[in-house]
Amino acid sequence: MTLSKKPYRGTRDFFPTDKRKRDYLFNAMSQTAELFGYESYDGPLLEEVDLYRAKSGEELINEQIYSFTDRGEREVAIRPEMTPTLARMVAQIHKVETKPIRWYAIPNLMRYEKPQRGRLREHWQFNVDIFGAPEHAGEIEILQVAVTLMKKLGATSEHFEILLNDRRVVDALFKQAMGANDEQALKLYKIVDAAKKIGSDGVNKKVAELSLPANALEIFNKYLAVTSFEGLGNLLKEYKQDEASQSLLQFTQKLELMNLSDFVKFDPAVVRGLDYYTGVVFEIFDKHPDNRRALCGGGAYANLLKIFNEEPVAGIGFGLGDVTMTDFLETHGLMPNFDVANNDLLIAPLDEQAMAKSQLLAQSLREEGVKVVCALEPIKLKKAFPMAEKKGASFVAFIGANEIENELLPIKNLKEKSQQEFKMSDIKEIAKHLLPEG
Ligand code: HAM
Repeated sequence: MTLSKKPYRGTRDFFPTDKRKRDYLFNAMSQTAELFGYESYDGPLLEEVDLYRAKSGEELINEQIYSFTDRGEREVAIRPEMTPTLARMVAQIHKVETKPIRWYAIPNLMRYEKPQRGRLREHWQFNVDIFGAPEHAGEIEILQVAVTLMKKLGATSEHFEILLNDRRVVDALFKQAMGANDEQALKLYKIVDAAKKIGSDGVNKKVAELSLPANALEIFNKYLAVTSFEGLGNLLKEYKQDEASQSLLQFTQKLELMNLSDFVKFDPAVVRGLDYYTGVVFEIFDKHPDNRRALCGGGAYANLLKIFNEEPVAGIGFGLGDVTMTDFLETHGLMPNFDVANNDLLIAPLDEQAMAKSQLLAQSLREEGVKVVCALEPIKLKKAFPMAEKKGASFVAFIGANEIENELLPIKNLKEKSQQEFKMSDIKEIAKHLLPEG
């Protein structure tokens, strides 16, 4: 049998060029989270399946989870998302930890999905979550983190938008105004989710099947037609949902105050598939017509700690995927070029006698922080330049009998096509010349 060289379906090999892109993203992610005082955490790759059964929702459990029975007859799963692990960890320490708790992680997750553009079976997801923050303040900060990352990666409100909704507001309409019970409200969420796909006839048919009071369908359709926070506020007022309307107004005023309203837009279709969300929910969408998909999803979940018999501690956060983010940056031409490695200097020994001197010099320069690639056998001038280019080195130094005898090191600057000579023992001077500024 010949073994396939391809990675398992829906997973990726990261060759150096791909890995450089991933490192670029991950660095931007951690730097952004740390700018806001979020601390890095991590958890195990495997969890008991019950952890996801509690609150992650049917689709994840029935269709997407990778699970197996271990040698001790326990049913375990590869993590399909990070939030349940995070909640389990926070449940252990929330009583002694000062609030708010601000944490971030970049775990790899696995979901059994049909691989396609933007959807794979393994992806990495930047998770940023805050626990125990005052109402609205946590939501605003989490949105600020997301926007700061997008800006750091070169994106503006021309490239992306944040589509936002509030499950409490939707619940007020569905339950109070339309008279739905908990179960019917859940079904209404699913209809909202499918509305674009099934069209208005499909929506009417599905709502009729729920046997709600006579005016329910009219309210539901009015809700689906809302396109702004203002419109939603009016609808809430029309159906006497004053408390929800007040809270929405206060939240949108804060968005305005924090300069977030350029990015954030109301969307009735965003209700999120995971069962644990209880308040604000949002998705970051690519505005490019070739890539209309969510880069990120998140929201507020007030009760997740209850599954561990702990008192509720309000959590808010998001997950932003590396696959969708890479597509986004590439679609908009925002991904820097990572085709070649990033080094400072190539040292090219011209003969066998220069080998030891070259390696010693390389080592001294590395101690000064210079990224040095040293050829490991004598190399001809002609071959050294393409090698330097391939290694992404902007400088080349040749060492032969003359250089060793005179204790001098000529360094060629490949970009400027110039040459400068240094005393070979002047390591600090040489390093200063080679290191990029700053
Ligand atoms: P989610 O909406 O399932 O939320 O995933 C968040 C993001 O991860 C998506 O918008 C997408 O960019 C990416 N993603 C999800 N599945 C895949 C996949 N199969 N392939 C590629 N990318 C994918 C959650 O997972 C929540 N736990 C996020 C969260 C954190 N909510 C609060 N805190």
